[in-house]
Amino acid sequence: VGNVWLWWVDVRSVSEAVVQAWAATLDASERDRAARFRFATDRAAYVAAHALARVLLSRVCGRPTNAWRFVAGPYGKPRVHASMGVEIDFNLSHTRGLAAVAACAGADVGVDVEGTIRRHGLGVAEYHFAPAEVDALRRLQPAPRQEAFLQLWTLKEAWSKATGRGLTSRLDAAVFVLEPFSVDLSAAGEDASAWQFHRCAPTAEHVLALAVRRSGREIPLERVVAREVRHQELVMV
Ligand SMILES: CC(C)(COP(=O)(O)OP(=O)(O)OC[C@H]1O[C@@H](n2cnc3c(N)ncnc32)[C@H](O)[C@@H]1OP(=O)(O)O)[C@@H](O)C(=O)NCCC(=O)NCCS
Repeated sequence: VGNVWLWWVDVRSVSEAVVQAWAATLDASERDRAARFRFATDRAAYVAAHALARVLLSRVCGRPTNAWRFVAGPYGKPRVHASMGVEIDFNLSHTRGLAAVAACAGADVGVDVEGTIRRHGLGVAEYHFAPAEVDALRRLQPAPRQEAFLQLWTLKEAWSKATGRGLTSRLDAAVFVLEPFSVDLSAAGEDASAWQFHRCAPTAEHVLALAVRRSGREIPLERVVAREVRHQELVMV
């Protein structure tokens, strides 16, 4: 097991020409989906995430970016096709303005990004979160409550994406305490000691959570901020 790789790109700083160059690295079905986005900003984030996934996998596994073939798991999690002959899990997430990808050989990974602009009321938490989490949110003032809500939401999504079940899993089965950080996965029948979670704010307007399910000890995290594509090469910050 090597590192957990976490790459992201602030799509707001990427020109349309760069998005076009990135789009050229996608396969036909990805390009089809990209073409169906109504807003250019959403399309850019989708294209960035999918291109970034290929570049990251290529960097880690030493294959050409356009060689990657994917297959969907039982609940839709894309995985590397067996014909590629590499054992690596990856996951991607995109929201307006930001794309992120995580990958690890030897562990399951899930990543989620959300914008902080969108406001969420307690109703969503009451529906999806565990009672203890809702109580913790209630005790906070509106601004920190909003921040805590997004952290909980992204952590839960990252967890559900690492397992591959996505939103078919009960999000209240993963119970998080933010400060000091702890997690209880017993309601999901999971051993929390096999998991590691990371949180960060890639930009002032985005939050990100990463979940890793491993069989051994803590895996070091390598973060890379991708800035731009020139001649289909990523330029690192
Ligand atoms: C996956 C899911 C959590 C996405 O969350 P989101 O915040 O809307 O979107 P994100 O940008 O964070 O993630 C989307 C990416 O997650 C990946 N993904 C899709 N299904 C996934 C799953 N079950 N587990 C992990 N990752 C998944 C894909 O790469 C997807 O990218 P794409 O939509 O550009 O192809 C949610 O949509 C979901 O659970 N969907 C599948 C559940 C389902 O009902 N499946 C039925 C098909 S059998």
